[in-house]
Amino acid sequence: MADFISIKEAMSKESGEVAIRGWVYRERGSNKFKFLVIRDSSNIIQCVVKKENLANSPDNTAEQLWDKVSKLQIEASVEIVGDIKKDERAPTGYEIQVKDIKIIGISDTFPINKDQSTEFLLDKRHLWLRSRHLTAVMKVRSTVFGALNKFYRSKGFFEFSPPVFTPNACEGGATLFEVKYFEEKCYLTQSWQLYAEAAIFALEKIYFTGPCFRAERSKTSRHLAEFWMAETECAWYDLPKISELAKELVAFIIEEVVKNNEDDLKLLGQDIEKLKKITLPFPTITYTEALKILKEKSNMDVEWGKDLRTIEEDELMKHFDKPIVVTHYPKEIMAFYKPADPKDPKTTLCFDMLAPEGYGEIIGGSQRETDLEALKKGLEKEGEKLDNYEWYLDLRRYGNVPHAGFGMGVERVVAWLCKLDNIKDAIPFPRTMLRKTP
Ligand code: 4AD
Ligand code: MG
Repeated sequence: MADFISIKEAMSKESGEVAIRGWVYRERGSNKFKFLVIRDSSNIIQCVVKKENLANSPDNTAEQLWDKVSKLQIEASVEIVGDIKKDERAPTGYEIQVKDIKIIGISDTFPINKDQSTEFLLDKRHLWLRSRHLTAVMKVRSTVFGALNKFYRSKGFFEFSPPVFTPNACEGGATLFEVKYFEEKCYLTQSWQLYAEAAIFALEKIYFTGPCFRAERSKTSRHLAEFWMAETECAWYDLPKISELAKELVAFIIEEVVKNNEDDLKLLGQDIEKLKKITLPFPTITYTEALKILKEKSNMDVEWGKDLRTIEEDELMKHFDKPIVVTHYPKEIMAFYKPADPKDPKTTLCFDMLAPEGYGEIIGGSQRETDLEALKKGLEKEGEKLDNYEWYLDLRRYGNVPHAGFGMGVERVVAWLCKLDNIKDAIPFPRTMLRKTP
């Protein structure tokens, strides 16, 4: 058969003979013709097979081929040669009059049809991945990964490779996944920050995007047990500089997604014009100011010292249409590596970035504690054994420098940009407390 092109390329040709291949997305027919909507990774297109147009070939007589074509079911894979033309009535505005069709793989009756429950679709995730919805999300996700690399590399950051098996917690023991490690045990990484802190002494500015694991017991629409975090760590950076980097990163990701995924966003029901307006600068407020906004604008009381819960973050974000950075959370509730602000020691030099429209915390970061004794005290307070952290404490013993970093939850960002109801659709095979298959 001829040189194959994508459906998108075929449509941009507008006329003449084209060869495409893909899967049957929809089918209907009579005893004289068959309408096939064919899907590939680029788009869908309507194809009409007329019995009278089929010819005999070494493999089949025209009659035999027609018999097979008329029995084609959804998701069968085919190669098609035909003439393309504009057709207003067709689902994507073009139609192919089929001259030759080759059946590559027949399909059993596809188990997924209309109106199936979310759980059923999750059970059949290996097949549901082919849906146009998930295909569009995965394309946006791919743009986000590309944007991360482009952004950091253009700024002279090095990509670093941290381990997944770790002897210690980074974000508290409660959500650690323990794994058997030969005759001993260890954990799956919750964040590679501690290793990043080791690497900045060699590379200074680094980034890495990789899977992180947390035994989250909350069944929220924002938590996964396995998620991808885009982390960065920078020597010589302080809180203002690192939070500025986070803002630039998010603005850049939006720019890239708007530029590359217009069709996908449309398919997902996302308003592109709204996304285009999300440009720098993004506001920065302190935790204390956030409580004041909640009190004054939403009549919501949060006791100073309590972490912001989902409902409070959502309420706060009703007053903003761009992401915001919230700094200076209470020291008492923050991880051991976040240093007290010397100007106000009951707060820390940390920040979260919150997304609008109820998508919550997309980034968490901070300046890092550089004082050895303060680190030890913090670890002990979290109930950690100092022995396990000796290697990390060494970093404060040999030419320590101020540094800072952050982690961005890739799925949270994808869910927000794709306007998804649940974070589970932002990752191909979601793992949660209740699901580890397929
Ligand atoms: O705020 P977190 O816990 O920060 C850290 O782990 C730092 N060590 C990162 C660093 O400074 N290098 O997690 C960072 C981000 C969160 O803001 C959130 O977007 C995402 O990771 N995240 C999750 N996303 C999905 N499911 C979960 N269970 C998540 N936990 C955190
Ligand atoms: Mg956090």
